[in-house]
Amino acid sequence: MAKVDSFNLLFNEMSKSAKRLEELLALIGLLYIGKQAITLTYHLINGCRIHFFSKLWPQNLSLYGEWAVITGGSDGIGKAFAYALAKRNVNLLLIARQEEKLINVASDLVTKFGVKVEILSADFVERLQTYKKIDDKLVNKEIGILINNVAALPLTLSLFHRISRNEHLGVLDVNLASMLVMTSKILPSMVERRKGLIINVSSTAGLFPIPFMATYSSSKAYMDFFSRALNYEYRNYGVTVQSLVPNHVPKDSSVGDYRKRILNFFKPHTMTFAENALSTVGYTPQTSGYWMHDMVNWFSQSIPDCIRIRLAAYFVRKHFSESEID
Ligand SMILES: NC(=O)c1ccc[n+]([C@@H]2O[C@H](COP(=O)([O-])OP(=O)(O)OC[C@H]3O[C@@H](n4cnc5c(N)ncnc54)[C@H](OP(=O)(O)O)[C@@H]3O)[C@@H](O)[C@H]2O)c1
Repeated sequence: MAKVDSFNLLFNEMSKSAKRLEELLALIGLLYIGKQAITLTYHLINGCRIHFFSKLWPQNLSLYGEWAVITGGSDGIGKAFAYALAKRNVNLLLIARQEEKLINVASDLVTKFGVKVEILSADFVERLQTYKKIDDKLVNKEIGILINNVAALPLTLSLFHRISRNEHLGVLDVNLASMLVMTSKILPSMVERRKGLIINVSSTAGLFPIPFMATYSSSKAYMDFFSRALNYEYRNYGVTVQSLVPNHVPKDSSVGDYRKRILNFFKPHTMTFAENALSTVGYTPQTSGYWMHDMVNWFSQSIPDCIRIRLAAYFVRKHFSESEID
């Protein structure tokens, strides 16, 4: 009988402890779900504010100043920014290497929008020569907007040691030195006028490390950190510095047919992208520039690094199969 009593006592004690453990686990679960719900709600509201409400109350970008400078402004995202700004009556200085492409874009912009467009054919790898030419072009221009968009990847993607040191340094010249030098040339006059906008086009590749693209990926991380730090430094000087971290934005040969691709949410047309990105100015210091890309970036941040780095390596292998990765 005494044995049964002590067994009952032990059983009762154990079920009480199990109940307490169950309650504790339920509380932890509730707190976790609450935290996730709050985070999700915050991201949804903030996402709507950045990508949808911003379109209802867009900033008047022509108020920043008469001119915008776009590095890499003859193709892809840079060219789309040129069209989007010309539409807003901003004059443009476009910098890229191939003169013919620059001439074509410039004459189309002048014809369509009646803005002033100046071009500069220069290679950011040739540092001193290029910056001297840029100095000459900047004289007597009120630059309200600077878009540091130009970027380079090594010619082939491979293990770090298989790519020449000069090529790695060239990537840094184009991606980083260009941004630093252009910013240091143009920012002082913006501070003086207490007005200015700098958009630095980084990449999703800068949000976490991408194997076989180490130099590019880390240069994009630098751009992102640099932009957000500067945005804080100059918040009281009327200068906004925005970091754009786009996902995939395929290059389009024609700027005109972008409405056909308007429903392709994962791969926006460069024009859709540029229009969306410009509408976020003043609403956030960092964005992918496009609502679906922000959702993808947000989701990818919840994946542990050990998995997303592997996934990134897999995609690089798949999409750049002609490279010498293995
Ligand atoms: N497209 C995407 O999917 C994507 C995704 C994430 C981030 N991004 C970022 O977005 C930016 C634009 O990318 P994109 O794909 O639109 O580029 P893109 O279509 O290849 O255009 C690059 C532009 O830069 C110029 N350029 C290239 N190298 C140059 C150099 N050494 N000196 C001067 N100009 C040079 C090119 O003209 P020339 O060849 O005539 O010089 C062209 O105008 C980059 O910063 C990129 O990292 C793009």
